[in-house]
Amino acid sequence: MAAPPSRARADYDYLIKLLLIGDSGVGKSCLLLRFSDGSFTTSFITTIGIDFKIRTIELDGKRIKLQIWDTAGQERFRTITTAYYRGAMGILLVYDVTDESSFNNIRNWIRNIEQHASDNVNKVLVGNKADMDESKRSAKTNLNVEEVFFSIARDIKQRLADSDARVEPNAIKIGQQDQADGSAANAQKAGCCG
Ligand code: GTP
Repeated sequence: MAAPPSRARADYDYLIKLLLIGDSGVGKSCLLLRFSDGSFTTSFITTIGIDFKIRTIELDGKRIKLQIWDTAGQERFRTITTAYYRGAMGILLVYDVTDESSFNNIRNWIRNIEQHASDNVNKVLVGNKADMDESKRSAKTNLNVEEVFFSIARDIKQRLADSDARVEPNAIKIGQQDQADGSAANAQKAGCCG
């Protein structure tokens, strides 16, 4: 019997960490459930602190492992949730199209990003509960849910590929044979949380 490889190969080319933020009740957990499990629930179980799910997608022949962090919208969890901003490569700012205050609060969420996230973090604004109003995205009907995650993942992958290309000429590579792609190693190191 052949000996197993000393270290398993990474099962992805890029690891991308995303964060969902927005007021409590706008549907962040439902969006994530829809994207990761393809399901929806009408019951509202508010997130306690933080939760995450994984889904691996394929983009341009590369395997992209999405690690998606779902934060609690409630103020009392703010200290815990802001600790996760720094490791995020992309942030989905979610509001409820039927709740104007959740949209007005987006400016406060952006301020939080400016204070706690990396400068080059990718951002996308998501108007949820479109089934209740005419707008863009809904976890309930799956309208544009795939599109929003794929579009931010594509932008981040491009950014990572561009920064890899910039480092490439003078970089000394050590232990590359165990990585499916150098970007996976870079991506893993980039985050502090999770
Ligand atoms: P916190 O965890 O407290 O931050 O809330 P959240 O933003 O994660 O909200 P959650 O996903 O738990 O959804 C809150 C409520 O909105 C639930 O009752 C969901 O069923 C409902 N909901 C979420 N998405 C949609 C949607 O697209 N359409 C409709 N009609 N209801 C939705």
